Amino acid sequence: MSKKIAIYYGTMTGNSEALAREILDNAQDAGWDAAIYNLADVASADLATNAPNAIYIVSTWGDGEPPSDAINFFEDLAAASVDLSAAKHAVFGLGDSNYEQFCKFATDLDARLSELGSSAVLDVAKGDVSFELDFAKWKPKALAAFGE
Ligand SMILES: Cc1cc2nc3c(=O)[nH]c(=O)nc-3n(C[C@H](O)[C@H](O)[C@H](O)COP(=O)(O)O)c2cc1C
Repeated sequence: MSKKIAIYYGTMTGNSEALAREILDNAQDAGWDAAIYNLADVASADLATNAPNAIYIVSTWGDGEPPSDAINFFEDLAAASVDLSAAKHAVFGLGDSNYEQFCKFATDLDARLSELGSSAVLDVAKGDVSFELDFAKWKPKALAAFGE
């Protein structure tokens, strides 16, 4: 039976969603039982039940804030007491290094997931304005880090 992985994205202008759809295809080709979720539609309680393995692809907006569609999710996660000790995660951030708070939502999200018990299988990856090549390299590494 194939293993489950959830791919979550938080986006304002679609970049993170496009990358999430790319890695969804790769994961399915590699035999994962993979599903994709917009963080706009996710509550913290869903994280423990959707899948034990989770990839998050999220941009940063404002001054280091989540994209507006992911603000409710992150407020919920900040206040939540869900037990994620059976979960594993990897975060790919999208941002622009001209901003002082480069990919801050990605690092904040990774930190909060870890506080709730989830194990990071990789350090947070930070994609800059030209992110395609970095993401292409990250994808196979991330999928491999969750194990076969
Ligand atoms: C008004 C504005 C504010 C932004 N603020 C940040 C920021 O604080 N930190 C950062 O790393 N990137 C910042 N960015 C860059 C975006 O995160 C980047 O364009 C990203 O690729 C958008 O991805 P998305 O389409 O998935 O939302 C900002 C961009 C704009 C236009």
